[in-house]
Amino acid sequence: MRAYYYDNLPGDQRAPHQCDPPRLVSGEILEKLNVKFWRIELDGYEDKLNAVAKERGYKNRDLINVTKEGLGELYEQKIKGFFEEHMHEDEEIRYILSGSGYFDVRESPSDEWIRIGVDPGDLLVIPAGIYHRFTLDENNAIKALRLFQDEPKWIPYNRNAETEVNPHRLEYLKVVGVSA
Ligand SMILES: [Fe+2]
Repeated sequence: MRAYYYDNLPGDQRAPHQCDPPRLVSGEILEKLNVKFWRIELDGYEDKLNAVAKERGYKNRDLINVTKEGLGELYEQKIKGFFEEHMHEDEEIRYILSGSGYFDVRESPSDEWIRIGVDPGDLLVIPAGIYHRFTLDENNAIKALRLFQDEPKWIPYNRNAETEVNPHRLEYLKVVGVSA
């Protein structure tokens, strides 16, 4: 897991977009944003992942495999879709099995993008109500477990005037100590 402020420069979203010089983001800053993460080595990961899942009430999981080959012509379109700034009313939980990618999360109240690079063995929990987006990196492949509490509700609400007053957004801001 690597985290740093995104440079906001135009260009391929899959490029690292590090500032020059880099502006690294500490685990403490991520914790303040209620973004949670664990490192669980792939070798024998099941028990540890099951323990976290049990503690946090993640009853179900499935596998997502995003590759250029797998998605074919839809690839570019899909990749652009994942990169739309959005929020969910539930946590987004990913355990990376292979490949890599970037989750960008909005810092509040600065509204700056923080880029989180994930690699195999990273478990990331993006809280409900935080604005975020995802992209593959230049390796163009990621395989991850998606964990969820009950039924999978993968509804992305793209950022707009309505999401600004969504109760899950307002609750999130309260949790991180920012008033809307
Ligand atoms: Fe999402």
